[in-house]
Amino acid sequence: MNARLSPRMSVVGASPTAEISNKLRALAASGADVINLGEGELDFATPAHVCEAGIAAIRAGDTKYTAVSGTAALKAAIARKFKRENGLAYKPAEIIAGTGAKQLIFNAFLATLDKGDEVIVPAPYWVSYPDMIRLAGATPVIVPGRAEDGWKLTVHDLAAALTPKTRWVILNSPNNPTGAVYSRAELAALEAVLIDHDVLVMADDIYEHIVHDGSFAAPAAAMPNLLDRVLTINGVSKGYSMTGWRLGYAGGPEWLIRAMDVLQSQSTSNPSTIAQAATIAALDGDMSFLDGWKETLLARREQVVRAVATTPGLSALATPGAFYVFADCSGLFGKSTPDGKTLATDLDVAGYILDAAHVGMVHGSAFGMPGHLRIAYAIEDARLAIALARITDAVSRLT
Ligand SMILES: Cc1ncc(COP(=O)(O)O)c(C=O)c1O
Repeated sequence: MNARLSPRMSVVGASPTAEISNKLRALAASGADVINLGEGELDFATPAHVCEAGIAAIRAGDTKYTAVSGTAALKAAIARKFKRENGLAYKPAEIIAGTGAKQLIFNAFLATLDKGDEVIVPAPYWVSYPDMIRLAGATPVIVPGRAEDGWKLTVHDLAAALTPKTRWVILNSPNNPTGAVYSRAELAALEAVLIDHDVLVMADDIYEHIVHDGSFAAPAAAMPNLLDRVLTINGVSKGYSMTGWRLGYAGGPEWLIRAMDVLQSQSTSNPSTIAQAATIAALDGDMSFLDGWKETLLARREQVVRAVATTPGLSALATPGAFYVFADCSGLFGKSTPDGKTLATDLDVAGYILDAAHVGMVHGSAFGMPGHLRIAYAIEDARLAIALARITDAVSRLT
């Protein structure tokens, strides 16, 4: 590490998903026909009425600083969304908008964590949580999930992981990378454990709108006795295909929202006015486009699940939400590639498939669950079919 860098940089690495994308871009630049099943974003265009609202904001000269936490109009639209969709009543002072859900999660950790503090991170987890926790000086306590539990945190494992140092528990439903969705009853059971512990709950609901089986329950609503300790994180990146607009929002206790606002005021200030205007249109607007999106995604999920089930060495559970299949690839360990390399880890398998099939996927270790691959199926149907055929073919060449 360069001596000019802060020791802080030793606890953080580049996001592994971004790394895969960089590798793929380099391969593509060399002329290869690469297919990226590693990207955590939908291939659909942002709905037209949302884009129009952004354009209208530019034309109206809505291009100057706003309140750090977002305009009053945006916060009112977020409050309406929380009430309408989740039955949650947040006041404007309990709401903040930021530059993506990512920034809000980061600010929440930075505002509350210190050396010695612990955060319970159920695995597999979204890649950024542990690094953010470490950057804030605290320790991620990784609690491995099990496929047979639907990859969900159990009451028993939660109880065993809690210590007097625990400051937060993260609940991400639907989950990235497994697509697991917690039911109301499961959340109530976790609430019963948490009620006696003075810990905060980070409910990362960013995939709320992408549920195929069962239905979404917001932890803040399903854990009413913890409401004053739950920070609900959400945004428009996934449900409205707006990853590039960079707009996330959070609802939670006023003391915490105020602290996040202070941090944001000294770093990025308000999210883009154009994204704020577009988000009002998204949250208040017609959502019928989602039905078509979900139908398309469901058909793709079935395509992936079928391909995985018929490829020896791979297996996966059906994944109720998000747009990922989390496949076990440990059945390929010990096999040899055509050029004589033995596959021993998920990284080896992902690397082999990238080299041999020009298909990129993120290895499970990046999500704290070795022996797996995350297959993101948010790409055009025809390309997905080609990618899956290439994976099956590459695997069939192993001996
Ligand atoms: C679980 C989870 N939380 C948060 C985010 C961040 O979303 P945003 O684009 O709003 O920063 C992502 C993005 O991939 C995610 O998968």
